[in-house]
Amino acid sequence: MTVYAKVIGTGGYLPEAIKTNEDISKTVDTSDEWIFERTGIKKRHIAADDETASSMAEIAAKQAIEAAAIDANDIDLIIVSTGTPDNVYPSTACLLQHRLGNKKAVAFDIQAACSGSVFSLDIATQYIKSGAAKTVLIVGAEICSRIVDWTDRGTCILFGDGAAAMLLQASEEAGVLSTHIHSDGGFEELLKCPNPQAASDKTAEQGYISMKGNEVFKVAVNTLGKIVDETLTANNLDKSAIDWLVPHQANSRIIAATAKKLKMSMEQVVLTLEEQGNTSSASVLLAFNTAVRDGRIQRGQVVLLEAFGAGFTWGSALIKY
Ligand code: COA
Repeated sequence: MTVYAKVIGTGGYLPEAIKTNEDISKTVDTSDEWIFERTGIKKRHIAADDETASSMAEIAAKQAIEAAAIDANDIDLIIVSTGTPDNVYPSTACLLQHRLGNKKAVAFDIQAACSGSVFSLDIATQYIKSGAAKTVLIVGAEICSRIVDWTDRGTCILFGDGAAAMLLQASEEAGVLSTHIHSDGGFEELLKCPNPQAASDKTAEQGYISMKGNEVFKVAVNTLGKIVDETLTANNLDKSAIDWLVPHQANSRIIAATAKKLKMSMEQVVLTLEEQGNTSSASVLLAFNTAVRDGRIQRGQVVLLEAFGAGFTWGSALIKY
């Protein structure tokens, strides 16, 4: 009997405060027109001072638990992906476990930058398929606004804050059909966020995101094209079998290139970046949750999730919802 990891619930959280392109153009030399035309972004949510990755993760996770109609103690693995953990340790996943009142799960964080969603999905799927776990909670929780240099117009226009959760459970019914994840550690200088406390050269850099946007853009378009081919080939599927594309929300031009490769109309692409910006590892899960809750993604449909991030890391997941 084939065991699948089936999506049984999703949740999402966006902080209340919103920063628009107009707000940003008051502090750096940019404009709403430039940002929207080059990225597709209009606004992003910004966490309040008293919010943390674990507090946002808790809200998203509780929504997913409610949607799945399970008890928090049914969860036996919790994976949190974040570039802005509450602490270096304990992990944000351990803090989340405590916030949920769960006493039984194994909990740990992963770091794959913006690809954290598909990396978490891959790990969850492997645990479920091997029988090592039955019910797995994955969460992406990011407070990008705290690691963005608000004087750098090349990066501060892109990122936003948010958290999203997905619950997966062992099932005989089809669920995750395949996952594909990759890393190439040769690109640190194109996109990174240093940890100033642990760096050997304390004077070198602040703990802010730095990026060579143009070069990242080119690698991202090329790489995401290849991951689409890899996913279709692995499943012996034609492009036409995919109902929805749920991409990482980094740039509308990168997303349009992937949709074109799939010969998909933009109507079949779940887009949240206009309202949310790039929420790093939360973005794919936030978009998935949005389209489930507004009724676009229906049970039985085939959904392709893909992401690309610092490292570089990249990957995809094909899900029969
Ligand atoms: N407002 C106005 N002008 C800006 C600007 C801004 N916010 N940011 C950069 N510019 C300027 C540059 O200084 C440059 O000016 P110059 O020609 O006088 O030197 C010009 O615009 C073009 O810069 P470039 O970096 O080539 O722009 P771009 O079209 O590549 O757009 C990004 C910049 C960041 C929007 C785009 O490269 C991008 O989205 N890259 C991918 C980022 C990404 O996906 N990162 C996350 C991966 S998970």
